[in-house]
Amino acid sequence: MAMASAGYDRLAELKAFDDTKAGVKGLVDAGVTAVPRIFHHPPEPAAPPRPSSSRPDHHDVVTNSSIPVIDLASLGVTRAELVAQVKAAAETVGFFQVVNHGVPEAAMSDMLASVRRFNEAPVDARRPFYTRDAARRVKYSSNYDLFWAPAASWRDTLFLDMSPTPPSPEEIPPACRDIVFEYTRQVQSLCSALLGLLSEAMGLHSGYLDRDAGCLDGLSVAAHYYPPCPEPHLTLGAVKHTDATFLTVLLQDGVGGLQARVEDSWVDVPPVPGALIVNVGDFLQVMSNDGFRSVEHRVVAASDGPRVSVACFFRPGGPAASTRVYGPIVVKDAPRYRSFTAAEFIGSYRDKGFGGRPAQDRFRL
Ligand code: OGA
Ligand code: NI
Repeated sequence: MAMASAGYDRLAELKAFDDTKAGVKGLVDAGVTAVPRIFHHPPEPAAPPRPSSSRPDHHDVVTNSSIPVIDLASLGVTRAELVAQVKAAAETVGFFQVVNHGVPEAAMSDMLASVRRFNEAPVDARRPFYTRDAARRVKYSSNYDLFWAPAASWRDTLFLDMSPTPPSPEEIPPACRDIVFEYTRQVQSLCSALLGLLSEAMGLHSGYLDRDAGCLDGLSVAAHYYPPCPEPHLTLGAVKHTDATFLTVLLQDGVGGLQARVEDSWVDVPPVPGALIVNVGDFLQVMSNDGFRSVEHRVVAASDGPRVSVACFFRPGGPAASTRVYGPIVVKDAPRYRSFTAAEFIGSYRDKGFGGRPAQDRFRL
């Protein structure tokens, strides 16, 4: 796909853009009215034949939302019923939204506001955080895969490794410093509750995923800022991908644009006031032996906005993270994957790049 962009010095343009350390927001501030070539995405192949209007376009074939909304504190619902709701969602669309989840509304709105504040601060305040140095626990950049993805996406991200070893407060932009610790603490306790429900849905004791399997040990936060885009049909906010996580808990503002792949259609994951989005990641798909589904999703670009979202990635972390072995735990028939370490998994994820074939397929038997 990179070949399609021959005819201009793509690497030089990527470098020039990266060197501004101002992100896509910097382009928008400079008043661009056209999307630069480095952000042009080849049109996606059309979805499997549909009777009409099957255009090879980023924005086609969106059906009404079939993403379940689950009330975690509904009085009339028993634990067994709640487990059944979560199980059904994890087994089918792999995405659900939760309400009455215990994360205070103020923590959510403060978190979104702080990300917006950081990205809308003068560029001199953002630049010191702009880095591709993997060793830093706080990294601001536009497209972490800028130099190896076939096309850049219309998005800037502040990435924070929060657990097991959090950054020191001084490493975090002042705009986000206070709220990010509070917000992640709240989401960790929600995730613990979700892992309890998912453990039971797998027929295991409720502490299995959280305590025995270490699914709560590692947490990285990606705070995304999607500036308004002058030509949204030419690019994407995020290309289709699955998450290399156990579980992802996503907070989005009211703009919308996230879509999940359900039965060969892109389905909107619409903003629901007060809700958080939960999706199954690749590790949980493997551990459940394909019982739960890590589903492809993407973000379309839009001319309105900006859009802000905050993804909490629960993934292997801690001293044993790279050597710990993962594989199917719940096996009804034959195991569909061989076991692998997180290091092997992340290595294959990196090789394939963001998007493309799910990394766990390399370990499929
Ligand atoms: C991600 C992701 C979606 C969004 O960060 O992996 O899918 O709405 N984000 O920003
Ligand atoms: Ni994702």
